[in-house]
Amino acid sequence: MWRNGLSQCGNTSLNKSEHRIPFSMITPSTTRQILETAHIEDVISEFLTLRRGGANLTALCPFHHEKTPSFSVSPARNTFKCFGCGKGGNAASFLMEHEGFSYSEALRWLALKYNIEFQETKPTPEQLAAQQEEESLVIVNDFAQKFFQSNLSGVGLDYLRSRGFTEATIQKFGLGFAPDSWDALTKAATQAGFKLEQLQKLGLTTPSGKDFFRNRVIFPIHNLSGKVIAFAGRILSSFESLSSWKDHPKYLNSAESPIYHKSQTLYGIHLARKAIRHKDECILVEGYTDLIALHQADIDNVVASAGTALTTEQLLLISRFTPNLHLLYDGDPAGIAAAMRGLDLALELDLNVRISNLPHPEDPDSFLRRVGITSFTEYLTANAKDFIAFKAGALLNHAGNDPVKMASAVHEIVDSIARVPDPIKRSFFTKDCASLTGLDEEVLTIETNKAMKSLQKKQATLIVERPSTLSLPKATSLGGRGIERHLVYLLLEHGAETQDASENITVAENLLTNIKDVLEHFEDPLCLRICKECIELVLAKKPVTTKHFIAHENLDLSGFAANLMHENTIIPDPHWEERGFVPESSSSAKHYLESIANAIYRLKLKVVNQLCLQNLEQIREVSPDDEQAMARLLSVQEKLNAARMELAGKIGLVR
Ligand code: CTP
Ligand code: MN
Repeated sequence: MWRNGLSQCGNTSLNKSEHRIPFSMITPSTTRQILETAHIEDVISEFLTLRRGGANLTALCPFHHEKTPSFSVSPARNTFKCFGCGKGGNAASFLMEHEGFSYSEALRWLALKYNIEFQETKPTPEQLAAQQEEESLVIVNDFAQKFFQSNLSGVGLDYLRSRGFTEATIQKFGLGFAPDSWDALTKAATQAGFKLEQLQKLGLTTPSGKDFFRNRVIFPIHNLSGKVIAFAGRILSSFESLSSWKDHPKYLNSAESPIYHKSQTLYGIHLARKAIRHKDECILVEGYTDLIALHQADIDNVVASAGTALTTEQLLLISRFTPNLHLLYDGDPAGIAAAMRGLDLALELDLNVRISNLPHPEDPDSFLRRVGITSFTEYLTANAKDFIAFKAGALLNHAGNDPVKMASAVHEIVDSIARVPDPIKRSFFTKDCASLTGLDEEVLTIETNKAMKSLQKKQATLIVERPSTLSLPKATSLGGRGIERHLVYLLLEHGAETQDASENITVAENLLTNIKDVLEHFEDPLCLRICKECIELVLAKKPVTTKHFIAHENLDLSGFAANLMHENTIIPDPHWEERGFVPESSSSAKHYLESIANAIYRLKLKVVNQLCLQNLEQIREVSPDDEQAMARLLSVQEKLNAARMELAGKIGLVR
């Protein structure tokens, strides 16, 4: 039935952002096909201007601010990497990073670009029905949005103009008007072939068949890819004072529906995503009109929480584009409380939060209109506080000189610091807190640690503990994953070549046989996973290749492999050399068999060194009376020492 609607409202042809189909998953083999078909330079050049430099292409990195290009694209590897900020991967990782796509969105985008039919794991009949329903609901909303838009004239348009919104702004946000009628939309939609049931599901029509939005200015609400998923309707100002709040609220919002989940939605995200990434900051306001006013003043890296308490899902959405969040709230107690609530959640997600409270009773829209854009930005620059300063300011002011209130304020601040995952940031915050409160830093650190423990306890009850699969306890590992990475690089680069033509052995087979006994001591879980998968490839008589991993369906593995191989092959640009960058392959490409043998010895030496340390630890701990145990440990030590000497000799460290 919904296809009926499709033909009626036209303009719904699939565009590049319409790749989000819920539930069904792209199969691993199609994923591989997509990643192998996609040309990284084609994909990236849709977004950046690439310049040729030798075998590679370069550009100014879109992920951090820079004046000379450190962003490189390797068509041969089908990878990209920025030597400035370290971001790198394959075509899908680029789209995820640049466009904020999920992995499956990125794959669908690529499939569309390269006309690859995706084979998906078959959705269940219920999933299929739900998916078709979602698509049809979007089409109904699309119809409604156009209906409201075409009804924007007279009082509705006057109202928006009176608020200072220009034609271009009204157009940009698709603003509209719901006529003062009981059933104008419901009638128009059903006549166009849409079902009443669908209109009701979306909350556009009430259960009794009337229009939900009547005589209101309409703000369509979009999802990340720009589809209309809900509406908000604002009362006209002439009714605002007359009507009681309860019966005629200032704003009416669409109810939750299969396509609208309020807690996951941020108003304006589809228009702001590019700017948020570009400016590496997201401004968060409360209201629809605040957001629109800021956009009109060219502040476009802004989203609105639309009157709800911030949720983790909303913050996660922001964190796909930037780690820097700037909360812009009304300076009244309600605004401060709203900022406080959002704060702890944001800290837990490792977002860097700044907060600006506007002079009460202004909101961003009214303040901007009163003082103008220059003073507005100046105010923000002068008044943005980091979270410690904000919380300390708000809480300590309130506490005055009352020591009990002071103490509880400090506890609240410490509780927020304890949520910050990064220990370095935590210690800076503790320092700040000490200087703001005049308390001893050490005391605050102790309190932070206590608060962290009690937070962890709370979280631990939520997480089912899984036993560790690593045979070596973390504390005894020596760090330095460099050798593992180097070996994996050599394995992928040369694995398919022949080690020994007479015995028909591949480099991979030889290498993996040699490191089998130290595999369980690998420190880097991704290196280990790659080696294990290579063993499977060898057993299945398949070649071990770089391509296999760069187009791997598992994003962790493909990202890791892309970075590793790119780092080790890029032809050094003079300007990277100046910065001390030397790719490993340039020195060792010709003698790779030697390099591999050497790397194996070095890896083994590292493991033997670890075992030595562990054994020494045990010697130190064993009771001197337990002669048997001591003798056993000493003999182990002797063997380990001998192995160390032998390996060191092979590497050329000793003669
Ligand atoms: N809100 C809502 N329902 C209400 C009141 C408010 O959903 N009954 C949400 C809206 O998203 C609104 C935001 O809370 O934009 C902030 O509310 P408020 O400050 O009262 O409105 P403004 O955004 O300032 O709207 P206006 O400027 O049109 O008065
Ligand atoms: Mn307002």
